[in-house]
Amino acid sequence: MNHEQHEAIARWERRWLNVAGLLLVMFVILIAYSLATEGGHIAQRSGRTTPEKLTSLELFEEPGVKITRVGAGRPTEAQVTLVAQAWVFNPAEIVLPVGAVTTFYLTSRDVLHGFQVEDTNINVELIPGEISTLTYTFDKPGVYRTTCNEYCGLSHQNMMGTVRVVYPGEFAEASTAPAAEGDTEAVGEGVYTTNCVSCHQADGQGVPGAFPPLAGHAAALLEADRSYLPRLLLYGLEGEITVGSDSYNGQMPAWSQLSDEEIAGTLNYILSAWDEGAAPEPYTPEEIAPFRDEPLSAEDVYALRQTLSLND
Ligand code: CUA
Repeated sequence: MNHEQHEAIARWERRWLNVAGLLLVMFVILIAYSLATEGGHIAQRSGRTTPEKLTSLELFEEPGVKITRVGAGRPTEAQVTLVAQAWVFNPAEIVLPVGAVTTFYLTSRDVLHGFQVEDTNINVELIPGEISTLTYTFDKPGVYRTTCNEYCGLSHQNMMGTVRVVYPGEFAEASTAPAAEGDTEAVGEGVYTTNCVSCHQADGQGVPGAFPPLAGHAAALLEADRSYLPRLLLYGLEGEITVGSDSYNGQMPAWSQLSDEEIAGTLNYILSAWDEGAAPEPYTPEEIAPFRDEPLSAEDVYALRQTLSLND
């Protein structure tokens, strides 16, 4: 290569380097511009935790909405705590008074999830072990859909919720709805609708190949071993199972964060909702408590299931 050719190549190299440098400057300007004018902001990490410790953290003991400040007779500041797990947001529905400055504390119990609220700039990655926080004020009443926008497994597309923004007058009414305590059956139906429907479906038929049906099947499990269902809910299940001639390989998460009453109620609900005439002796909260101290894993529960003699 002679000197002239060498110079020509070096010239082109400098030009391309300049183009790359310009692009870099342009991107930085665009980011700064959107942060400054479009109200974009980066969610902050406000703390660390581990999924196991989550339920004992005061902040996440009872995820949901809390009014933190009232001015002139209306809520002016609110706090939302939310825990994501495969494949639900807890709570699934967030009710907020319009105009309240709302601080969100968000985390994940298991894997990476996303939390995006439509028509807003709320779009946060929920990382297990980290608490993300952001502040947002809803200025317009309405229903905003929330979705998980990080692929998190088989039922990712069903992971949805809502933010319902209401006038302060309606807020008190809307936020005091949940099932009365003591009514185990109603509690169970509520838990099922919030946490189980996305996989096992409202009619209890499940999803072929992934999530087994509960209708007709839960009763058979109960009959085979009464202690199996409480363990299944408390510790989850991992492994491919068969029901009749069909196999299912979806993962059942552990639900130990539910109370004894919620677990008993959910089991009673799935045992009675679709199977008429089958009226097994209901589970009681007292019956659930002793199962909590077993050092079982989702694989252990799978092994346990393989030992059950199921006729279907
Ligand atoms: Cu959670 Cu996708």
